Amino acid sequence: MITRRAFTATTLATLLGTRLHAQDDANYDEAKVPPYTLPPLLVDAAGRPLRGRDDWQARRVELLDTFAAQMYGRTPRGLAACTVTAIDAPVPVLDGRALRQQLRLDWVGKASVDVLVYRPAHGRRVPVFVGLNYYGNHAVDPDPGIVLNRRWMRASEANGIVQHRATERSRGTMARRWPVDLIIERDCALMTAYYGDFAPDDPAVVRDGIAPLADGLQDRIPVRERWGAIGMWAWGLSQMRAAATGVPGLDASRAIVIGHSRLGKAALWAGVQDEAFAMVVSNDSGCAGAALSRRIYGETIGRITSSFPHWFCGNAASWAGREAEMPVDQHQLLALVAPRALHVASAVDDRWADPRGEFLATLAADPAWRFLGGTGLGDVTEMPPVDAPVGRRVRYHVRTGGHDINRYDWTQYLETAKSTLHK
Ligand code: GCU
Repeated sequence: MITRRAFTATTLATLLGTRLHAQDDANYDEAKVPPYTLPPLLVDAAGRPLRGRDDWQARRVELLDTFAAQMYGRTPRGLAACTVTAIDAPVPVLDGRALRQQLRLDWVGKASVDVLVYRPAHGRRVPVFVGLNYYGNHAVDPDPGIVLNRRWMRASEANGIVQHRATERSRGTMARRWPVDLIIERDCALMTAYYGDFAPDDPAVVRDGIAPLADGLQDRIPVRERWGAIGMWAWGLSQMRAAATGVPGLDASRAIVIGHSRLGKAALWAGVQDEAFAMVVSNDSGCAGAALSRRIYGETIGRITSSFPHWFCGNAASWAGREAEMPVDQHQLLALVAPRALHVASAVDDRWADPRGEFLATLAADPAWRFLGGTGLGDVTEMPPVDAPVGRRVRYHVRTGGHDINRYDWTQYLETAKSTLHK
């Protein structure tokens, strides 16, 4: 017999013989968000208030250590550097306004990653967006000169993936997410690479990227603290940033790490570990990204660590259903970007990623900017309406529509880059 308490959406669906979409069986009711207290931001591990920059730096190290040990895993020390070679000479595109070039990051005999670069043709050094893509560089633009990536990819009919491999039909299928014309028009550059080159996104094949580079370097890292795919993608983003140093027209001191969704989680983890990123962009990164874990709204730690165990370190799953006991919450991750520029964005219909939780984490992180003597969100206290970005060095917007990154989002990121990084 089914008691009233056990009568969940799942049992209803089972009785009706329907299959629920995994995301339907989650809390989307603001009234059911449990009361919670966030771990305080400006105190040390012993609860003593921080007094100045030195205290913040010490606390920063502790927080990074906790996020590594409990969530994303530790980035191994001593990973080999890559060689960077040009695959082709710069090719004029966009009616001569931009140059397109492909580079190869090579860990000879072990791993390689192709990077696609677009930069303004004028050649002066400009801020560069560094971001991973989901279906290969050839999906970013239909340009037949872009190398077709033949590595393992997640199944996607819409992206022309056949038996986990891209086909000619895959070219340009993700172009709407990469408005290269707009980036160039706003005097910025773009560097992108296929995320699966660093770590294929499936537990069965996740080792087929750069993972072997860590062999022999993890002996002193407890097994449950070893990195997962998010850690590898984040490390990859830093490798790309480092490679920007040698590319004409790119200003690596004004590198902006950007990512959508799972890659937004990776962009945040890259941006907090690697302070050489001058700005960090989280687009719809949701659970284990910009959203507060303690709200239990949309995706939860339990759901994410059971659906995607390969993204995290082993300890992460131990917090399933125990969010309130976690030693950290995601506002503390966002705060680790301070005093650099941060832009967090949500989409109003993307409830799985908890837009309000992303805003509240940003708001709760903001005191870090003030503590360090800057202006983050400014006088913002309430979540803004849709399509009305707010903030200064920390900016936030919630866009009309669903889970995606589009031209509107990019327009906002370019605006943040202009107001915080342009000389
Ligand atoms: C799933 C996952 C999210 C993730 C998203 C994406 O929905 O549950 O955590 O952000 O995929 O990467 O698109």
